[in-house]
Amino acid sequence: MSGAHPERWASAAVRGLAPYVPGKPISELERELGIRDIVKLASNENPIGPSPLAVRAMHEALGEAWVYPDGSGHDLKTALARHHGVGVEAFTLGNGSNDLLVLLAEAFLAPGCEAVYSQYCFAIYPLVVQATGATGRCVPARSCADAMPFGHDLEAMARAVNERTRLVFIANPNNPTGTWEGSEALRQFIEAVPSSTLVVLDEAYYDYARAVGCQDGIEWLAAHPNLVVLRTFSKAYGLAGLRVGYSVSHPGGGRRAQSPAPALQCQCRCARRGYGGASGPGSPGTGRGTRVQRA
Ligand SMILES: Cc1ncc(COP(=O)(O)O)c(C=O)c1O
Repeated sequence: MSGAHPERWASAAVRGLAPYVPGKPISELERELGIRDIVKLASNENPIGPSPLAVRAMHEALGEAWVYPDGSGHDLKTALARHHGVGVEAFTLGNGSNDLLVLLAEAFLAPGCEAVYSQYCFAIYPLVVQATGATGRCVPARSCADAMPFGHDLEAMARAVNERTRLVFIANPNNPTGTWEGSEALRQFIEAVPSSTLVVLDEAYYDYARAVGCQDGIEWLAAHPNLVVLRTFSKAYGLAGLRVGYSVSHPGGGRRAQSPAPALQCQCRCARRGYGGASGPGSPGTGRGTRVQRA
């Protein structure tokens, strides 16, 4: 038997990936530095935590943990469809919206294709692109003197799109810069991009930016078949540990086969019970926050 390791059969693109180094768990840091009461900010979790209604629904759902999950995520999608006023068929569920970024890259990219993202984008975009063997076009961000320092330069990003570009990633608001795009600039960008390029509008932090007039990309889906919007329960809803995210696509196309992961089952059952709920941004976990299902 030869001593070769199966790793050699991984694609060159995957072998070229630098392993992701996750942030240290709080317990490890406390032990290391001998301090207590650490507030973890690195992953933008919501320290307020989930709504008591969501916690109650999760407790109740535990009793059904012996059943395989509903592979279609029917109940959660139905609740989301009602909440957003969009057809059920527009939704794809993922293990966090991170999972959907991976799925989109796998579905649309291959060696020879390109994807465009901004210099200070969410760190996962370049990784999911690289894993497919496609080429990432990293566009310099706006200057630090700009009104949106280090934010996306949408005009430059539009110029970086060519006939090989399959995906463009825009987080609105963006992590890690905390910047956001004006509605008109964003609309012009989407209209400037060829209809064969899918614009991935990552709205993980949308709920926090409504007060500053941040655009709800879901409103634009009917008019733009090449737009897909990502949302998550991880941030404003304080449910990062559940790993539930979703994409909303134009009803007519752009959707990938639906394959919700088992972890979604708990949320699906919460939705079925009509709790569906989670505290909205800034809601101190009183249970009066936004519900997934409209009341
Ligand atoms: C911009 C952005 N998009 C997506 C995600 C992924 O979130 P999740 O996989 O928890 O839904 C994050 C998480 O930090 C993020 O900052």
